[in-house]
Amino acid sequence: MSGTYEYRGLRKEILPAEGKLGILLPGLGAVSSTLMAGVFLVRKGLGRPVGSLTQMSRIRLGKRNEARYPLIREFVPLADLEDLVFGSWDIMDWNAYEAALRAGVIEKERLEPVRGELEGIKALPAVFDPAFVRNLDGPNKKEYANLMEAAELVMRDIERFREETGVSRCVMCWCGSTEVYQEAPGNTIFEDLDSLERALKESSPEIPPSMVYAYAAIRSGIPFANGAPNLACDVPALTTLAIESGVPIAGKDFKTGQTLMKTIIAPGIKARLLGLEGWFSSNILGNRDGEVLDDPGSFRSKEVTKSSVLDSILRPDLYPELYGDYFHKVRIEYYPPRGDAKEGWDNIDIRGWLDAPMQIKVNFLCRDSILAAPVVLDIVLFLDLAKRAGLKGIQEWLSFYFKSPMHRADLPPVNDLFQQDEKLRNTLRILKGEMVIDHSGLDYYEQDHEEEDSSS
Ligand SMILES: NC(=O)c1ccc[n+]([C@@H]2O[C@H](COP(=O)([O-])OP(=O)(O)OC[C@H]3O[C@@H](n4cnc5c(N)ncnc54)[C@H](O)[C@@H]3O)[C@@H](O)[C@H]2O)c1
Repeated sequence: MSGTYEYRGLRKEILPAEGKLGILLPGLGAVSSTLMAGVFLVRKGLGRPVGSLTQMSRIRLGKRNEARYPLIREFVPLADLEDLVFGSWDIMDWNAYEAALRAGVIEKERLEPVRGELEGIKALPAVFDPAFVRNLDGPNKKEYANLMEAAELVMRDIERFREETGVSRCVMCWCGSTEVYQEAPGNTIFEDLDSLERALKESSPEIPPSMVYAYAAIRSGIPFANGAPNLACDVPALTTLAIESGVPIAGKDFKTGQTLMKTIIAPGIKARLLGLEGWFSSNILGNRDGEVLDDPGSFRSKEVTKSSVLDSILRPDLYPELYGDYFHKVRIEYYPPRGDAKEGWDNIDIRGWLDAPMQIKVNFLCRDSILAAPVVLDIVLFLDLAKRAGLKGIQEWLSFYFKSPMHRADLPPVNDLFQQDEKLRNTLRILKGEMVIDHSGLDYYEQDHEEEDSSS
């Protein structure tokens, strides 16, 4: 399945999803191993890909009375699950089966039918710097004279993976630990490619490992997504390189548990113009991600992406009397007994008619990696589609999947889950030459007039 589409007068082609697709994941932890095990189980008919738009969602096309609702995967040319091949890097010298057992997300008995496939995915030695992830260390690390050499080693790994597996295309998604918080704006080494490449050769202590992988992927012509809140590709040097190299990129920080809920509830509060006094969010989680986030530097990265969503939904700039002064606090506590079964509490203080106070309480008992796995699957399949459709640079239509969506510097991000959903669906419609759906309801009147016209 391929095709052409027209956008703003330009005719473009979507290349077919021929051959195998390599999914390259730096970080072979809970999320990566849950994704891999899930894909293998689904392929064997031993599980359902619940939560994945690419696998289960339908898309409305045309006017409502046309009743056209194909599956997204039948509407646009996506790679088939049968054609996915996985590769990964980690500081732990283990394979995907060992990683899945350690993560404890999927029960041991349930992993048994796909044990062989998981054992076949061995973590390649990682580019690692303990200054960026302070609560972890491991033996499986590359040796290099400087960070440019490290990037070249990753590019060589990619080449070898391509040769050994025979994949026709690849996508990379950072599923490694959250690195310590860094400010990008104003840092001249991130401003342009020359400065970044010089800094790589000089092994600047400001370059995190995630950025080395991102550079290697984009240089290799491979779409890159960032599932964590750290910088990775979110710097001008790499967003420009991505556009110049025709590579789509997206990020950052998978939108899964509490922030997913926040971007579902906040648009409702805003739509009804209820005031907001305060939003207190607290979490406990006990997986390795939680252990890394116990370090204040890594937590700060998470705190920034988690805290930024409300303003862009509530628009205090437009509604200062309702949203100009709310108190927002986010806490994450590492609590080992819970493992991957995170629990989040939200207390939301709102105001109604005549400023009467009301409260909303949310208690979300979720499974972190169970929510993240379909998100990673969709991101990589859509980024591969984007590449074949000639899209490049930041893919804002994938904001749906991120807590802190990368976006054009001169425009605010979209965080409202429902707007993000429409953005994604309308992009798919445009790629297939279908009309954009505005949900105005005006087609109702159009239909009336059509009937009048034909009867007169
Ligand atoms: N719902 C979710 O699970 C969720 C949601 C949003 C974001 N994330 C982010 O996704 C990432 C993965 O989450 P997880 O639960 O799988 O964490 P995890 O701790 O289980 O796995 C991360 C893995 O990355 C490895 N790693 C660290 N630095 C590396 C490097 N430089 N190169 C290669 N490997 C490296 C670690 O050894 C670990 O095995 C984290 O950054 C997390 O914050 C997860």
